Order: sequence, then C-alpha cells, then structure tokens
Amino acid sequence: MSPLDFYQDNRFMNMLTRLHSKTTFNHIMEFISQNFKEYLPFEKVGLALVDEEEECINNRKVISDISSSSFGFEIPYYGTDLKEIIEMGIPKVINNLEVYFEKNPSSFWPIRILGEGFLATLILPLKVRDKGVGIIFFGHHSPNIYTQTHIDFLRFISTHVSTVFEKSFLMRELALTTVMGLANLAEKRDLETGQHIKRIKYYSRALAVELATNSIYKHKIDEEFIQDIYDFSPLHDIGKVGISDAILRKPGKLTPEEFEEMKKHTIIGKEILEAIEENLKKKGFSFFKMGIEIVYSHQEKFDGSGYPQGLKGEEIPLSARLVSVCDVFDACSLDRVYKKAYSLEECYRIVEEGKGTHFDPVIVDSFMNIREKIEKIYHRFHD
Ligand SMILES: [Fe+2]
Ligand SMILES: [Fe+2]
Repeated sequence: MSPLDFYQDNRFMNMLTRLHSKTTFNHIMEFISQNFKEYLPFEKVGLALVDEEEECINNRKVISDISSSSFGFEIPYYGTDLKEIIEMGIPKVINNLEVYFEKNPSSFWPIRILGEGFLATLILPLKVRDKGVGIIFFGHHSPNIYTQTHIDFLRFISTHVSTVFEKSFLMRELALTTVMGLANLAEKRDLETGQHIKRIKYYSRALAVELATNSIYKHKIDEEFIQDIYDFSPLHDIGKVGISDAILRKPGKLTPEEFEEMKKHTIIGKEILEAIEENLKKKGFSFFKMGIEIVYSHQEKFDGSGYPQGLKGEEIPLSARLVSVCDVFDACSLDRVYKKAYSLEECYRIVEEGKGTHFDPVIVDSFMNIREKIEKIYHRFHD
C-alpha cells in the first residue's frame, strides 16, 4: 500500500485518530497490540527504552500471544548494532534472525528482547527531540514473514507512533523531574545526602525483579511495576518537606506529640502527589498511582502496628511493603543525628527480625536472596 492508499482507507484513518488519543506507554502498547494486527503479523510486541546511566536498554512493556517471557533487563546497548539502528532512526526488518546472528555475531540483544524462538523481527526506533531513546519491536516465529507491504506500513505509521510516544515520554519526564526535585529537597533537610534516595531506587528495583520470580508475587509484577518502583520509591519521604526542622533534625528521641507530627509526612506526601495527579488527569495523563501508594503506606507494618492507617498484611499495597524493607535496611546503614550507622550484618539482622511483624515474610526472604546485589548497590552509592 502507498501512503495515499492508507489515507484513503477510512478504517485506517479512524485507527490513527484513536492512536493519537493515547497518553501512557501502556495504553499506546495495548492499542498497537490490538489494532496493528490487521496490517502487520506479530506474536509479540514490546517497548524497550535506553537507560543512559546504566548503559543498557530495558523492556518497559511486552505483550505476547505466546508467553509472558522473562524480563529483559539490563540488555547491553552501547557498542551494539541496536544503538546504530536507534541512532539512524529508520525502521529495521530482520526477516531471519539466525542468518542475522551469523553475520553479526555480537547481536545477541534480539534473544534478550524477544525471548526464545522468534525468528523475524521489525524494529521501530523511537526518538524524543531528535534523540534516540528506545524501540518498539515486533516479533514472529516464522522467518521471512515480513514483506515490503509491512515495511511500508511501519514506515508510514512510524511518525505517528513516535509523536504519540514522545508526548507521553516528555509528560512523564516532566512530572518525575518535578517530584524528584521535591524528594531531593526533603532528603537534603533530613539526611544531608542524596545517596539514600539513589540506593532505595536500586534496592527496590532489584528486589522487585527477584520477587517477580517468586510464585506468590510473579503474577503481580510486570515490567511496568518494576519501572514504577524504580521511579517512585525515591519519593517515599517526599512529605517530609512539610515537617519542621525541630522535629526532623532532633538529635534525641521524639516526644509522643512530636512523633504524631512526624507521622503526618505520609499524609502530606500523599496530598502532594494527589494534587499533581489531579492536574495530570485533566490533561488525560495519569502516572502517580504507585507513587501515591508508596508515600502513603511505606510506614505501615505487616502486623498492623504501623501508620497512618494501621493496615495489615496484604491490605498494604505490595509496592509499599517492598519499599519499606529497603527503606528500613538503608536507614539502618546510615549515620543519623540520633544514631550511629550499623554494619550491613546488623542491618540484615534487623530486617530478618522484622519478618512477619514489621515486614511481609516473603519479601524479606527475597531480599535475603539478593544480598550480593544489595551490597554492590550499597558500595556503588556510598559516601
Ligand atoms: Fe517515611
Ligand atoms: Fe527513607
């Protein structure tokens, strides 16, 4: 089909209009998965974005007819042909991955991105303000399935997908940058270091990846959950911007009245994020659902003795249960005005002691499974 044919096809034009109304990565990907099949054969479609800090590319959303294959996290990106494809910005067809591997032996990324057994792939590079930021990829088990018509379709649709993606990407970035500014401010007043926030982010993500392999939680954790945990765990104490220095920096134990004041940081945090989320919703966007859960419920305890609501067990959102383990562990390892830093061994012991009372026992077990990763992160972001 030529571009003219597409423009004259009413169903296609209608689909295009609906595509432009999508505002989140998830909605865009779900829309593509449901509506592109008429024009393009695929059994799997995914979104993978470049993480510059980690120098890798990560799956952000994968929709597959066949299986929910393993998470593609930390796939090497620099020095690969994938980087070239993204920088060129032109859709790429690989109709036989076996042949492609033979010619490009270093191209192991499709296996990680697509999962096992896919032989043909179409890759649509994504740019934001002319900078390559990731790809949308399609996969099929049959080699040589993609013809010139499919390529024409993808070329034609690519500007539209890029535009709608760019809008969502920039909006999320903007919202995140704003709240991260506040989170940093809260942390600077409280701890005088930015490292706690950084470690929490990495600890929480590593723990979420581990929990995704646990039979109890694997159905609740997908790529979106993992990314949200990474983005929103640093916000947990954002509400401390509203707590006075006299309480926040008090060298001794808080009086019962002061402790009541301190507890309010969960409510203040929730109100801050809810106000931003309300504004975003007016524009058709919504990003902060998990962020709100974390700030509001990270001080809850598994046995119901926490605050602000005294939630128990599974009543506490999974995201908040997960972050609370990482937060307490990291707080133990810090020097504070009212206490000395504990050794890592002591911090593990404190987490282990809280199993079933303070913390979800399954999450504690998973945390203990990844001690090696935790220590790597600890040393990487230690001041
Ligand atoms: Fe807190
Ligand atoms: Fe914290």
